[in-house]
Amino acid sequence: MKKTVAILFGGESSEHEVSCVSAANVAENLDTELYDAILVGITKDGKWWIFRGSTDDLRNHVWQDKRALLSPAVISPCKAHHGLLALDGASGSFEIIRVDVVFPVLHGKNGEDGTMQGLLELAGLPYVGCDTYSSAVSMDKAATKTVCADAGIPVVPFTAAYDTCDVEALIDSVEKKYSYPMFVKPANAGSSVGITKAKSNEELRNGIALAFEHDKKLLIEPNTVGREIEVAVCGNRRPFASVCGEIRPNSDFYDYETKYVNDKSECLAPAPLDEGVAEEIRTLAVKVYTALGCSGLSRVDFFLTENGAFLNEINTIPGFTPISMYPKMMACIGIEYKDLITKLLQLAEGVE
Ligand SMILES: Nc1ncnc2c1ncn2[C@@H]1O[C@H](COP(=O)(O)OP(=O)(O)O)[C@@H](O)[C@H]1O
Ligand SMILES: [Mg+2]
Repeated sequence: MKKTVAILFGGESSEHEVSCVSAANVAENLDTELYDAILVGITKDGKWWIFRGSTDDLRNHVWQDKRALLSPAVISPCKAHHGLLALDGASGSFEIIRVDVVFPVLHGKNGEDGTMQGLLELAGLPYVGCDTYSSAVSMDKAATKTVCADAGIPVVPFTAAYDTCDVEALIDSVEKKYSYPMFVKPANAGSSVGITKAKSNEELRNGIALAFEHDKKLLIEPNTVGREIEVAVCGNRRPFASVCGEIRPNSDFYDYETKYVNDKSECLAPAPLDEGVAEEIRTLAVKVYTALGCSGLSRVDFFLTENGAFLNEINTIPGFTPISMYPKMMACIGIEYKDLITKLLQLAEGVE
C-alpha cells in the first residue's frame, strides 16, 4: 500500500521562496513506488491551499495565481481525522483526506520554530524533522548556544537582550566586553535578515533597532574570524554526520545578498580540511544535535578559528534545493537526494 505524504511549502517567513524551490525538488524526488504526494501551500499571509498543479509552478513562484488548481484545506488538530480537512467554501462542508506522514519543507517563522510541529503533534501525524521543543530551542540562536554551552560545546560568545532592555546599558556593556566590529542579529530569524556587522557605536545602535524590527530578542556577538564550516546530521536515536562542508562568502559576511542574489559565494563539499580536524567537527555536530534533542535532520554551522571550532547556529529545516548544502553534504557520504527523502520519511515514522 502506498503512503500519502503531505508536503507543506511556502509559509510566512522571509524564506518563503526558498521553501517553494526546496519543496518542488522534494516532490519530484519522492519514491513514487512508496508514496503519493499532496502539495499543501501556505501563502505569505498564512492562507492554506492544496495545490494540484506542477512543481514548476512552485519553482516559478506562480502557484498562488493558479486559482483553478487551488482548494482550501487545513491540517486538522483532531487525531480522528489524521490528516487534512478539504473545505468546500460554497456548501460549508468538508472532506477528510487521510495523511500518513508530513514533510514540512518550511523554513523560519511558523515552519521551523516549533509552531507547525506543535500542530502536527496535536494532529497525531508523524512528520519529518525535529519535535516542538527542539525546533523552538534551535530556532532561537541564544537558547541554542545556552543549551550547547551547558553540554560543554564551544559556542560563539554572545550577549542576549529583549526589546524591553535599557539599550544604553546594553551598548555600554557590550562595548566593555567586545571590540568592533560586532554582529547584531535577531534571535529568531534566518537568511541573514536583520543582521548587521556594526563597525562603530552608531552602526551598533542602528543594528540594535533593526534587529528589534524582526524579533523581540537579539544577540550581540564579537566578530569571529574563521572559516564557515557546516555539517549535515541525520537520524533519531543514532544520529550520523556527513562530511564537513564550507561556505566561502567572498564578501564582508554571508549576508542575504551573498546567499541569494549575487553569485560570489562558494559552497564546498567536502571542505578542504585535515582529516583530524574534520573528524572533530563532525563529532561536535552530533554532540550539538544530541544536546538539542534533534531528530530527523539538522544542519549544524560552525566557525573554525585558530582556537578550534565554535558553534554559530543550527538549522532544523535546512534548504533542500539541489544546490543546498544539506543534500550536497549527504551525497558526499553516498546518500543521494532521492534516498535521503525516503530515509527522512522513514525516520519520521520511527524506522531507523
Ligand atoms: N559572530 C560572528 N562573527 C563573524 N561572522 C558572523 C558572526 N555571526 C554571523 N556572522 C556572519 O553572518 C552570517 C549569518 O549569520 P547567522 O548567525 O548564520 O544567521 P542566519 O540564521 O541568518 O544564517 C554568517 O554566515 C556569517 O557570515
Ligand atoms: Mg547561518
